[in-house]
Amino acid sequence: MVRLAVIPGDGIGPEVIDVAMAVLEVCSARFGVELECRVWDLGADRFLRDGVSITDEEFDTLTRESDAILLGALGDPRVPSNVHARDILLGLRFKLDLYVNYRPCELLAPEHSPLRGERQIDIHVFRENTEGVYTDMGGVFKAGTPQEIAIQEDLNTWRGVERIVRVAFMHARDRGLARVTLVDKANAMPAVGGLWRRVFSEVGEEFPEVGRDAMYVDAVAMDLVRRPESYEVIVTSNLFGDIISDLAAEITGGLGLAPSANLHPGQHALFEPVHGSAPDIAGQGLANPLGAVRSAAMMLRHLGHDEAATAVDAAVRGSLRAGVFTSDLGGSASTREVGHWLTESLRTVEE
Ligand code: NAD
Ligand code: IPM
Ligand code: MN
Repeated sequence: MVRLAVIPGDGIGPEVIDVAMAVLEVCSARFGVELECRVWDLGADRFLRDGVSITDEEFDTLTRESDAILLGALGDPRVPSNVHARDILLGLRFKLDLYVNYRPCELLAPEHSPLRGERQIDIHVFRENTEGVYTDMGGVFKAGTPQEIAIQEDLNTWRGVERIVRVAFMHARDRGLARVTLVDKANAMPAVGGLWRRVFSEVGEEFPEVGRDAMYVDAVAMDLVRRPESYEVIVTSNLFGDIISDLAAEITGGLGLAPSANLHPGQHALFEPVHGSAPDIAGQGLANPLGAVRSAAMMLRHLGHDEAATAVDAAVRGSLRAGVFTSDLGGSASTREVGHWLTESLRTVEE
C-alpha cells in the first residue's frame, strides 16, 4: 500500500493533478498498484482564507502519514510575496531534507523541440535542493529608502555539495553514461566555486568509469541551445539548477512536459512537474498535464512499480505520436482530452 499525499495547489496545479490522479487510478486497477490518497487543501485559497500556509501539525501529519507527495504547483497573483509557496514547497524540501532535485529532460518527439534538426537530447539535471541562495539567509536594512541594503547569502557546505555530487556520479555510473558536467560560476564566485570544484574532483575520483568536466553556467546556457546532445548528467547548485532545468525543459518540448523528483534517498520523496501555476492559462483547459503525469510515473518507478511506470511513459509517448496534445505543443486537445486519451490507452494496454 502506497500512502500518497496530494497537494494540487494553485492555478493549473489542480487541473494537471486531476489528470495525474486519473492515470494513477487506472494504474491501481490495471497493475495492482495499491494507493491510499489524501488530498491536502494547501495553497493560495487556504492562505487567503485562514492567513496560514501550513501549520506545524499539518506538516507533521502530511509527512508522517505519506510515503510520497505529489504536488501540482504553488503561486498566485493574489499573494504577490509568494510566501505560501515558499512555506509549503521550500518548507517540504528543506524540512524533509530532500536534497536531490532530479529533473530529467529527454526529447520524446524531435518535432517538439524549438531547435532545428534531428536532435537526440537526454539530459539528467541534478539540482542541489537544500542550500545555496534559497536558504533565505540575510536580510534587508533601511528597506524602502535610497540607503536600502539587501543581502541574500549563498550557503554551501562540503556535506551538502558532496551528497548531491555523489548522487549524480552514481546515476551516471548505474546508467552507463559517459560524463557528468559540473555547472558553476567559479570564475566570478571563487569561494563557492572552489568548494564545488574540489568536491567534484574528489568524489569523481571514486568513479573512474565516468568522465567529468566543469563549465560556467553562462557558457552552458549558450551551449545547451547550440549542442544539447553533448550533455548527459549535469550537477549544479540550487539556483543554477532552477534556471538550467527550465532551459533544458524548453529545448525538449517545453515546461508542460517536464517532470521532477525531490528526493532524500531512503527517507521521503516529493514529485512535481517543473512548471509553475501558470496563472496566464489557468482555468481554461489549456494546461499540458504531461509534466504532472510523467512526475507520477517517476513516483511509481521510485516506489518499485516499474511495470506501471513504464506503461504510463508509453502512454505519454503514444499520445504524442497520436497527435493528442495541448496548444503549448501546437495541438488542439484540452487538458482533459489528453487525460482521457491516456486513461483509455492504459485501460486497453495488453497484459
Ligand atoms: P510558469 O511555469 O507557471 O509559467 C511559465 C510559462 O509557461 C507561462 O507562459 C505558462 O503558461 C507556461 N506553462 C507552464 N506550465 C504549463 C503547462 N503545464 N502547460 C502549458 N503551458 C505551461 O512560471 P511563472 O509564470 O514564472 O510562475 C507562475 C507562478 O508559479 C509564480 O507564482 C511562481 O512562483 C510559481 N512557480 C511555482 C512552481 C512550483 O510550484 N513548483 C514552479 C515554478 C513557478
Ligand atoms: C521550481 C520553482 C521554485 C524554485 C519556486 C516556486 C520557489 O521555480 O520548483 O523550479 O525556484 O525552486
Ligand atoms: Mn523553477
